[in-house]
Amino acid sequence: MLAEVLDMLAPRAGGIYLDGTFGGGGYASAILDVAPCTLWAIDRDPDAVARGADLAARHPGRLHLIQGTIGDMLTLLTGAGVTALDGVVLDLGVSSFQIDDPARGFSFRADGPLDMRMSREGATAADLVNTLPERELADLLYAFGEERLSRRIAKAIVAARAQAPITTTAGLADIIRAVVPKDGSGIDPATRSFQALRIGVNDELGQIEAALTQAAGLLAPGGRLVVVSFHSLEDRIVKRFVTGAAGRTPAPSRHDPRALDARPAPDFRLLTPKALRPGEAETRANPRARSARLRALQRLAAGPAA
Ligand SMILES: C[S@@+](CC[C@H](N)C(=O)[O-])C[C@H]1O[C@@H](n2cnc3c(N)ncnc32)[C@H](O)[C@@H]1O
Repeated sequence: MLAEVLDMLAPRAGGIYLDGTFGGGGYASAILDVAPCTLWAIDRDPDAVARGADLAARHPGRLHLIQGTIGDMLTLLTGAGVTALDGVVLDLGVSSFQIDDPARGFSFRADGPLDMRMSREGATAADLVNTLPERELADLLYAFGEERLSRRIAKAIVAARAQAPITTTAGLADIIRAVVPKDGSGIDPATRSFQALRIGVNDELGQIEAALTQAAGLLAPGGRLVVVSFHSLEDRIVKRFVTGAAGRTPAPSRHDPRALDARPAPDFRLLTPKALRPGEAETRANPRARSARLRALQRLAAGPAA
């Protein structure tokens, strides 16, 4: 959704921007090309940051890469002397570099170690699968994968790991496929469980919550926050945040006298009353873009109205 991101972010000469999910640097490169601005970029994956060195060298003094999480963006940026931004873009989820590399363990399409850590540190998916109590495993699959058969899958995992630890993506996928029937949608029965584990391993939803609040707080008047999400759990959090920040929360009851002064004027304006979706050409060229949703906010220039 590069064209839509650039349109919503509207980078301008002299502006200071943050790409909180640098990945392969596609958005970063485009932002640096459209305006003579400064770009800070964060990624929790050390490989992504290392790969960005070339792009930084092509834009001397304009691209500053930091390895860390967006949940820590306030500390990371203020530590680097940046206290206000003209725009922030977050392109959530995993990059194709991560998903296409079997050694990172995100995918069941090619066998690899059951890892899934974007930051390459902390507990792996294998750690969760082999140690979580059955009930917690089922809750994780249900909460982060919206998997209706979570209990059945957790039971099968616990039975399998009693024989031998589950260490590979293909091994886990086979265990899941043996107990989840195909539903005719063409979606692999292991998809939802793999999503759930990835979200759990990387605390993705907690990261998004923390990042949105900090990004909004860092925006200078007129600054914009643009977020691209890839599944409904992410989009739900983003939607709630942006509509709330723009004062679009449901009005309190008109019968409640406190309603008259309960809601302060918002500091933000919603740039996307409805989420933007990728165009047909983009989804044809890149089927993974199919579920993308873009939402954007702008900090009001004059501060809250009196
Ligand atoms: C969808 S890709 C971004 C692709 C990028 N827009 C591009 O044009 O190449 C997401 C990237 O964000 C990183 N990421 C995901 N969650 C993160 C977090 N909480 N903190 C920092 N980086 C994160 C991932 O490591 C991955 O490299």
